[in-house]
Amino acid sequence: MFEVRTPSVAVEHARLLTFMRNVARTLTWVLSVCMTLLSHVLTSFTLQHSGDGGLYAELLQNRAFQQVTPNTTAALNAWSALNGAKLAVIADPTPVSKALPNSLQFTVPSGSSGAVGFTNAGFWGIKVDSAWTYKASFYYRFPASSSFSGTLTVGLRANNGGATLASATTTIHGTATTWTQVNLSFKPKSSASNLANSFFVSIDGAAAAGHTINFAMFSLFPPTFKDRPNGMRIDIAEALAEMGPAFFRFPGGNNLEGETFGTRWQWNATVGSLLDRPGRVGDWGYVNTDGLGLLEYLEFFEDVGMEPIMAVWSGYALGGTSEPESQLAPFIQQAKDQINFVIGDPATSAPAALRASLGHPEPFTLRFVEIGNEDFIGSAPSTYPYRWRDFFGNLSAEFPQIRFLATSNVGSPILSPAPPSYDVHVYQTPTWFYQNAFYYDSFQRDGTTYFEGEYAAISTNSSNLFGTPAQGRLLWPTVASSSGEAAFMTGLERNSDIVFAASYAPLLQHVNSTQWTPDLISFDAGSVIRSTSYYTQKLFATNVGDQYLASTLPTSGSTLHWSITRSSSSGETFIKVANAGSATASLTFDLSQFSTVAGTGTLQQLTGAQTASNTPAAPNTVTPKTSSITTGKSFTFNAPAFSVSVITVTTH
Ligand SMILES: *[C@@H]1O[C@H](CO)[C@@H](O)[C@H](O)[C@H]1NC(C)=O
Ligand SMILES: *[C@@H]1O[C@H](CO)[C@@H](O)[C@H](O)[C@H]1NC(C)=O
Ligand SMILES: *[C@@H]1O[C@H](CO)[C@@H](O)[C@H](O)[C@H]1NC(C)=O
Ligand SMILES: *[C@@H]1O[C@H](CO)[C@@H](O)[C@H](O)[C@H]1NC(C)=O
Ligand SMILES: *[C@@H]1O[C@H](CO)[C@@H](O)[C@H](O)[C@H]1NC(C)=O
Ligand SMILES: *[C@@H]1O[C@H](CO)[C@@H](O)[C@H](O)[C@H]1NC(C)=O
Repeated sequence: MFEVRTPSVAVEHARLLTFMRNVARTLTWVLSVCMTLLSHVLTSFTLQHSGDGGLYAELLQNRAFQQVTPNTTAALNAWSALNGAKLAVIADPTPVSKALPNSLQFTVPSGSSGAVGFTNAGFWGIKVDSAWTYKASFYYRFPASSSFSGTLTVGLRANNGGATLASATTTIHGTATTWTQVNLSFKPKSSASNLANSFFVSIDGAAAAGHTINFAMFSLFPPTFKDRPNGMRIDIAEALAEMGPAFFRFPGGNNLEGETFGTRWQWNATVGSLLDRPGRVGDWGYVNTDGLGLLEYLEFFEDVGMEPIMAVWSGYALGGTSEPESQLAPFIQQAKDQINFVIGDPATSAPAALRASLGHPEPFTLRFVEIGNEDFIGSAPSTYPYRWRDFFGNLSAEFPQIRFLATSNVGSPILSPAPPSYDVHVYQTPTWFYQNAFYYDSFQRDGTTYFEGEYAAISTNSSNLFGTPAQGRLLWPTVASSSGEAAFMTGLERNSDIVFAASYAPLLQHVNSTQWTPDLISFDAGSVIRSTSYYTQKLFATNVGDQYLASTLPTSGSTLHWSITRSSSSGETFIKVANAGSATASLTFDLSQFSTVAGTGTLQQLTGAQTASNTPAAPNTVTPKTSSITTGKSFTFNAPAFSVSVITVTTH
């Protein structure tokens, strides 16, 4: 047996026996996504550009004028005129595609001189890196044919002073009255010292005076993660990959649901040519391009070595309306099609044949599908019983190999058929998290499994979790909040016979467009900030065995918690200790069950002041430190106040 003693905690043998489940248990840590959940900032329920402007590497904001109202100022979001140009977003009588009805109409006023054009400000700036070759593209057409011929210059410029940082040119012809695509690439001569840079398109004003040109579907990409076309931003993707994630939950989160039925996320609107993706008004107040579509997500998961936990829409819109049972059939069919796009056989399934035509004939891995999102909110619980019954009934009949997750509160309402699994969410205080490290210990072992799909310590004020920072809401994870989460996570490991996955949420935050704090990873247009909770997740995800070793139990409700797992192949034993209290805690480990225990182990430790955080101004305030530690069959370990520690020692 693996015993842990603390001076103040008596070993409770009766309870110990209860938990001596000497079965090998496996646990996989999961990356939360809420990709789209995190995004742009317009309403109190708008989340912070985690996809567009975040993980998805596209640099231009409002690149294709999707879902905007023509002729409004808002339609020109992120675009500005240069040197007197006239700009308007119009409903083009001859649109570039059915899905993209709007174009940017650019008029060079008569009497112009010098370079006249327009800019795009990116997602709160554009990083200009001399190591990168940028790929730009757009479509243009002249609404009226003419003999005009001129040179367009396309590139990057500094906002202050307007210096050109990189550019390329192309010749355009007034006879081009149908849409013509232009691809260009350019490489800056030097890197810019800040992010205050824009994409620009310009033309010689004197030569082009009086002419009007329509533009559509712009794009500007830096190099991407694993060089995927239409791919992911390298630094954010690497921060995710570095955590050793096993899963990615997508495509939401609330963003799956839509405020209305019509604005729900629909898989088929996110695949194929970018010209065929209409985009949608997301649930967090800004337009989603859907450039990061179903296939891009799946390829990214393969590139990182993660599995999806995919959600299907289940008949409820966030605005509070449910489809009646008699109207569910087409939505159930759409969910089947979505799943078949991922795993179906191209020979027998049209969505699978579409996947094959897009370059991925092999099915992707898909073992978990979630039916809806947070069906414990608003009026969702009152209709979830029939929605669950019909979606689960039909989908589990067609896909018996998939495990389906319910998203209502566990056991309320009572669902029939009984859900194989639940997705559980909790946002609470650091104190709640360490006090609830035994949350799952009392759950019945009846075959039901659990995904802790969203959790985070978000406030120190238990009577006002969602209040202001002045009332205790955290802007950034703190050492104390991360230690509290770590205490809870030791309970997830102990209960990993029924808790199969866990993911902190939200995952990503653009610091210039924030709707929700705190977040695991923050970023701006140029850099990435790993929070203390990020390092906690990474410590747990990258130091886990395939066996859970029963040990003396921590005291329920206390600030000190631990869990022990072991790799059966290497013998590496991972002892995780979370101290969420303000005093050092001493523990003695008795590993005498093993015949040999290495005399030296490795200690990885995250610790700091209670309220210390990693922020844009000080991104590396608290990072894990690695050192060696004296181990052996018995050794004592002092866990500092507010700390997360992983001791790795080889045992045989
Ligand atoms: C947009 O504005 C242009 C020019 O001001 C006008 O000709 C056009 O009719 C307007 N279109 C719409 C849809 O309002
Ligand atoms: C983005 O946020 C950072 C950090 O708060 C700030 O320094 C910067 O000025 C902001 N940029 C823009 C374009 O608002
Ligand atoms: C522009 O690049 C895209 C992507 O590589 C390609 O499909 C398209 O044919 C190119 N267009 C032109 C006009 O070269
Ligand atoms: C997606 O499929 C649904 C039917 O399941 C259809 O109503 C909708 O128009 C399609 N959207 C796109 C963009 O193809
Ligand atoms: C499948 O869905 C339909 C339409 O909602 C429903 O009538 C039927 O009972 C469902 N089948 C199963 C096996 O749940
Ligand atoms: C916690 O929230 C409550 C309810 O809004 C408020 O009255 C109280 O002042 C807050 N506590 C602190 C320490 O800000």
